[in-house]
Amino acid sequence: MNPHATRPAIELRGVSKTYMTGSGDLTVLKDVSISVGHGEHAAIVGPSGSGKSTMLSILGTLDQPTMGDVLVDDRSTGAMSDGERSELRSRSLGFVFQQFHLLPHVDAVGNVELGMLYSGLARAERRRRASEALERVGLAERLDHRPTQLSGGEQQRVAIARAIAHRPAVVLADEPTGALDQTTGQSIITLFRRLDDVALVVITHDENIAAGFRRRIKIRDGRIESDENVLPAVGRRDGSACPA
Ligand SMILES: Nc1ncnc2c1ncn2[C@@H]1O[C@H](COP(=O)(O)OP(=O)(O)OP(=O)(O)O)[C@@H](O)[C@H]1O
Ligand SMILES: [Mg+2]
Repeated sequence: MNPHATRPAIELRGVSKTYMTGSGDLTVLKDVSISVGHGEHAAIVGPSGSGKSTMLSILGTLDQPTMGDVLVDDRSTGAMSDGERSELRSRSLGFVFQQFHLLPHVDAVGNVELGMLYSGLARAERRRRASEALERVGLAERLDHRPTQLSGGEQQRVAIARAIAHRPAVVLADEPTGALDQTTGQSIITLFRRLDDVALVVITHDENIAAGFRRRIKIRDGRIESDENVLPAVGRRDGSACPA
């Protein structure tokens, strides 16, 4: 157990997911429980088809578990109406996907602002927060660029700005570096790692990317195979050099 663990921002409790398919029922998540604290960052790794994206959709209340519950900020979402869940998402959750999902004819600041359309914030405040979020991801000079006028890495930065502009407690990212080259991918992860005010869950296939996270949750065949939390290697007693 991590002694520095904070209050849970998001939790799965005994979550199972079964899809009904033409060839019978398919259970893709089996009694999964995890908790990610406020400000904590975790990588989810596992083979293709192991249930990672299903788990992220359920964490993000985009999909419903067959059994178990999802709690966001200690609030159970199981009994919420669709409207309550969508309000919860627009207030507390941010999403980043492999594809950037930006509107092509809208500039960067407009794309970020549109993410807050249903937030209840006034237009001027939405614009202010959108500009602030774009500054935070290093795109202060690109506010009026449309997606075609941005590199892949820059487009993903806009998507990250959109995910954080409404100041959510939790950011969920499904293969956010999947469409980028290695170097650009690493710079996106460096940017994510600086978001110390959000609970962050990042799905990745890439072991090098996962290695950048202290907490690594391995999922296999719908179950948590391991959940390691490597504490920083500081102050070793034998005086040996510590890995950076
Ligand atoms: N709507 C659905 N109906 C039926 N089966 C589904 C549905 N969605 C996902 N599955 C199945 O659930 C399993 C887990 O899928 P999921 O997308 O969560 O895997 P993943 O770990 O994200 O894989 P990848 O690394 O390839 O993205 C797969 O076998 C998939 O075929
Ligand atoms: Mg997936």
